[in-house]
Amino acid sequence: MPRRRTTTATDAEPSDLPTRPKLSSTQPSDPPAPAADLGPPSGPDPGLDIGRIRAALLAWFRRGHRDLPWRRTRDPYAIWISEIMLQQTRVDTVKAYFHRFMAELPTVEALAAAPEDQVLTLWSGLGYYSRARNLHAAAGEIVTRYGGRFPREPEAVRGLPGIGPYTAGAILSIAFAQQAPILDGNVIRVLARLRALTERPDSAAGKRLYWSLAEALVPPARSAPSRGDGGDRESGGPAEAPSGQPNDPPNDPGDFNQALMELGATVCLPQRPVCLVCPLAELCQARLTGDPEAYPPKKEAKAVPVIEVVTLVVRAQGRVLLCRRPSLGLWGGLWEPPTLERPPEEPLDETLRRLVSERLAAELPTGQAVPLAPFVHVLSHRELRFQPFLLEVGPAAAPSPSPERDEALERRVGGYQARRWITAGEPLALGLAAWVTALLRRISA
Ligand code: ADE
Repeated sequence: MPRRRTTTATDAEPSDLPTRPKLSSTQPSDPPAPAADLGPPSGPDPGLDIGRIRAALLAWFRRGHRDLPWRRTRDPYAIWISEIMLQQTRVDTVKAYFHRFMAELPTVEALAAAPEDQVLTLWSGLGYYSRARNLHAAAGEIVTRYGGRFPREPEAVRGLPGIGPYTAGAILSIAFAQQAPILDGNVIRVLARLRALTERPDSAAGKRLYWSLAEALVPPARSAPSRGDGGDRESGGPAEAPSGQPNDPPNDPGDFNQALMELGATVCLPQRPVCLVCPLAELCQARLTGDPEAYPPKKEAKAVPVIEVVTLVVRAQGRVLLCRRPSLGLWGGLWEPPTLERPPEEPLDETLRRLVSERLAAELPTGQAVPLAPFVHVLSHRELRFQPFLLEVGPAAAPSPSPERDEALERRVGGYQARRWITAGEPLALGLAAWVTALLRRISA
């Protein structure tokens, strides 16, 4: 098979293809648990000028920051949706998804009542689809267990599916003005540089140290909320309460946490931090070393495994067959053309033959399948190299259900939950991973 130029798509999806070899799959996760979960912090940092750091950072944040849609509200539902989206995805990408999601499912009740396909469709292209499934499950729990009111007790928030210490801290501090720390990649970088920390943030000691620092810095809860009243709001729709108003309380845990994230995202950059405009420059230990980029210490780069994958677009009467993946694991509940991993050394035509027999339980003239341009999909823990094929079949040879019928047939075949024929190019109310959307677009073009 001649190799053509490959295209590359990237997202941060953990991989868990349904066939061998089974590699470890990493679910999207919050950063490590806070100090309270790992034992007591190792004691206050004697050189830490907490008052000055808080004041400088909050003043800087309030002088101006990015106007992000989730910063115009204190509604815990909206904050939660945005934080889950932001867990693995860039701010610029999240904006459009956030608007669409909130317009279609504006309340926790609406989310709980939505069919899973609708939620996955709203998530299509964001990657890490277990986030969407967890959101859906958590919304159901909020409705059934908490009567539709977003819980504000830390234990209850942390107990919801998909919410770890970072997301709980963000929701509790931003929506409910509670003194809860946050720690993500941006915050780790700011803290590591501020104190010139040499501990690796992914080590057990490092986790304790970074969380305890974040905990020491976040200001106390507001006693009398002066705006937005996130502390007592039901999750019933957006409540406009942009931060940065003149009557903002001097210390606000939510603003402080967002200021830390903002500093990491816009000033304290991984490469070439803009120390000249940094509000913490005078307090920053890494800056004194002359090499702030050396903090935090880097992880050793690990080579990601490369997996070959064969995918077959079967087309009959202008329609293509899509199969629904099992709900758990990579791309759970999403639809794709039948797909199979190709073990190292297996001839391509043998993988194609197995794909048809194992994934479709059918007999198809695979010799007539036309190879399409290969493409690469990069996930956080592996690189998937797709070899797509297109196979035109007549209606008699098409696997069931008949391509003339467009309703889903709940038919469990070859590890899939269901399959159906769709017209490529039509807007679909089905959750599709980004590579499937791109492939279908190519075929219908
Ligand atoms: N990344 C994670 N949470 C964020 C937020 N609330 N604003 C901007 N970037 C973020």
